[in-house]
Amino acid sequence: MNILLLGSGAREAAFADRILSSSRTENLFVAPGNPGTAPHNVADLNPLDFEAVAEFVDSHDVDMIVVGPEQPLVDGIADFFADRDVKIIGPSQKGAMLEGSKEFAKEFMFRHAIPTARFMTVTQDTIDEGYSFLESLTPPYVLKADGLAAGKGVLILDDVYEAKEKLSQMLEGMFGAASDTVVIEEYLHGIECSVFVITDGEDYKLLPVAKDYKRIGEGDKGPNTGGMGAVSPVPFADEEFIAKVEKSIVEPTLKGLSEEGIDYSGFIFLGLMNVEGEPMVIEYNCRMGDPETEVVLPRIESDFVDLLEGVADKTLGLKRLSVAPQAAATVILASAGYPGPYRKGDEISGLDSLPSEIKVFHAGTRRDAEGKLQTYGGRVLALTAFGDDIHSAAAKATQAAENVSFEGKQYRSDISSDLR
Ligand code: AMP
Ligand code: GLY
Repeated sequence: MNILLLGSGAREAAFADRILSSSRTENLFVAPGNPGTAPHNVADLNPLDFEAVAEFVDSHDVDMIVVGPEQPLVDGIADFFADRDVKIIGPSQKGAMLEGSKEFAKEFMFRHAIPTARFMTVTQDTIDEGYSFLESLTPPYVLKADGLAAGKGVLILDDVYEAKEKLSQMLEGMFGAASDTVVIEEYLHGIECSVFVITDGEDYKLLPVAKDYKRIGEGDKGPNTGGMGAVSPVPFADEEFIAKVEKSIVEPTLKGLSEEGIDYSGFIFLGLMNVEGEPMVIEYNCRMGDPETEVVLPRIESDFVDLLEGVADKTLGLKRLSVAPQAAATVILASAGYPGPYRKGDEISGLDSLPSEIKVFHAGTRRDAEGKLQTYGGRVLALTAFGDDIHSAAAKATQAAENVSFEGKQYRSDISSDLR
């Protein structure tokens, strides 16, 4: 099969690794890709330009498109290709609204009695009701921009006056049009994990559970990032917890989508809070997580492309998913300044001397005119290691992170240490 993978992060590098290990793959193209996927890159193909993607599909006999990030899905790429002669992995535009609109997602969950925090949706016209709702809650206060805001649209505030002020600022365009509508939520106390569902719209399978480390600083301090590391599996997400996730969240979600006539195939990423043993949904995403993918996919032993074909052909129920017993951990190396304005163009060294068991997934890197590898994005590299448990895997990934150098390198050396 000829496969076109859309995206350019470490998530897509991890997808590329699994796709290349499949006997079903003849050619892999990655658009636009990054230096880690270099021999496969189609650097000038923009995943948001559907006509250009279609031309590439035709001219290169592409059999399957795998969509990494959310934006093309939210923009309707699956609908665009629905009637064309190519398989596409990802939900319809309506289905992608589970991620594209927090208001849609919350109302969907309430319609289908899926456990989630109480909420109210507010616009400029109903701001006074929003203020009253905030007063009825206990701190901290959660404010979410309705639309996509590159992972930055959520504010958590301790003080009700500050929460009201931020609500007003959000409605005045703090996140552009994404915050014309704001969802105010009750705060959930607990510990988070990420559950990934792969579905063909009828059957589903759960991929390995992961936990991501969102804050920049050790001990979960400092501002939120795209994710500074991840582990899989997650000790508290045991059989009993996962059985609850399936019964109270996954099954009603799939049933709800089908009852509402929403075409959904591909991945559903459930951001969950474990509230005293009960899973509650913090968010839905219509794609895989980053950096979770860098620990989830390396643990999948069965043929990944075969699974993807099951999704596209609605034969997922016939496919086998086998998961490695080893645990995996990934540590992200980030640029100086990240998650604020960050440096670019620092030379990266030490990758060649890492042990071969370390999987190196590029995120924000580039090559200079002489071919030397440099930093280019906020998150630069994801280094994944395996171990008998998440702690030994994390120790190896952290050692690897120490041994790679660039000016101002940041990483967390406490990945996994909050988990028993
Ligand atoms: P989201 O983009 O919806 O995943 O929110 C970003 C982060 O904010 C989540 O990963 C949580 O850490 C936190 N968060 C969001 N909603 C809540 C909530 N209702 N209660 C507690 N924490 C939350
Ligand atoms: N790791 C969180 C995300 O991909 O949204």
